[in-house]
Amino acid sequence: MVQLTALSEEQFARFAKLVYSRAGIHLPAEKRSLLSNRLRRRMRALQLDSFDQYYDILAAASTSEEELPHFLNVVTTNETYFFRNTQLWRMFSDKLLPEFVAKHGNKSKRLRIWSAASSSGEEAYTIALILREKLPDFHSWRVEVIGSDISRNMLERASKGIYNAYALSKTDAAVKTKWFTKDGENFRLADEVRKLVKFQFHNLRDAFPQRDFDLVLLRNVLMYFDTPMKKLAVTNTANAVGAGGYLYIGDVDPTRTSAELMEAMKLQPLTPGLYHRPAAPAASAFAKNG
Ligand SMILES: C[S@@+](CC[C@H](N)C(=O)[O-])C[C@H]1O[C@@H](n2cnc3c(N)ncnc32)[C@H](O)[C@@H]1O
Repeated sequence: MVQLTALSEEQFARFAKLVYSRAGIHLPAEKRSLLSNRLRRRMRALQLDSFDQYYDILAAASTSEEELPHFLNVVTTNETYFFRNTQLWRMFSDKLLPEFVAKHGNKSKRLRIWSAASSSGEEAYTIALILREKLPDFHSWRVEVIGSDISRNMLERASKGIYNAYALSKTDAAVKTKWFTKDGENFRLADEVRKLVKFQFHNLRDAFPQRDFDLVLLRNVLMYFDTPMKKLAVTNTANAVGAGGYLYIGDVDPTRTSAELMEAMKLQPLTPGLYHRPAAPAASAFAKNG
């Protein structure tokens, strides 16, 4: 039988320290009962009776590597859906995309976008859907969209491209009909769009192996981090932005109000949530048109 009591303060502190050292996620004391409930579910699956037994598995060299991904799945919040934040996607279609087309359309015809902390993939696939619908002469382009996350469960779900009705609740009916097919209770994204996105493991604490992106999205994840980890995440995503490219933080964006984060980022702030690495003076549509 799995114990029904909550984690003691001391047990919580040990797990919180582990979460922080592995994922940079700061778990405040008020999350004690939430963490207790989530851990219990995992312990039930492993048929363990106590939080201490579970901690020992995570701490032991022989079992830690195998169990850590499950533990991180338990502690991360993965809420996401297609077309989350309509304002962002309007700005992407109306301002950024035309600028990318003007920049690359006559030369490389290559477009690179990274959805950092992509969870189950809805954000990365939203980008792919917009590109597939709105990028003129789509088939003549080399489009690379990368989604990354620390949760291996989420990466696995993302690569399947199968979603429930909630994930599509903010998706235009015409887009849904054109690019999704009903699969029981769920909806399956067309292979043609699914194949535009590659998913890979990445911890925002670490530098990203690819660079030179036209756009990097870092949304709805900084709020789980303390300042040193926010700094790392902002620096690692900003460093992957190419000349003339953009970083979008948006939503809950702590950067503008923190001199320390702005300093770490080294990009130019434009509209709320949007940051730019100038290619040459006044190269951005925002600089010209406001
Ligand atoms: C709330 S979801 C955000 C999904 C999407 N970006 C959006 O805005 O809809 C947060 C994601 O951040 C991931 N995450 C948490 N800590 C991370 C870390 N250190 N490195 C990479 N991803 C992390 C979680 O696994 C989760 O999938």
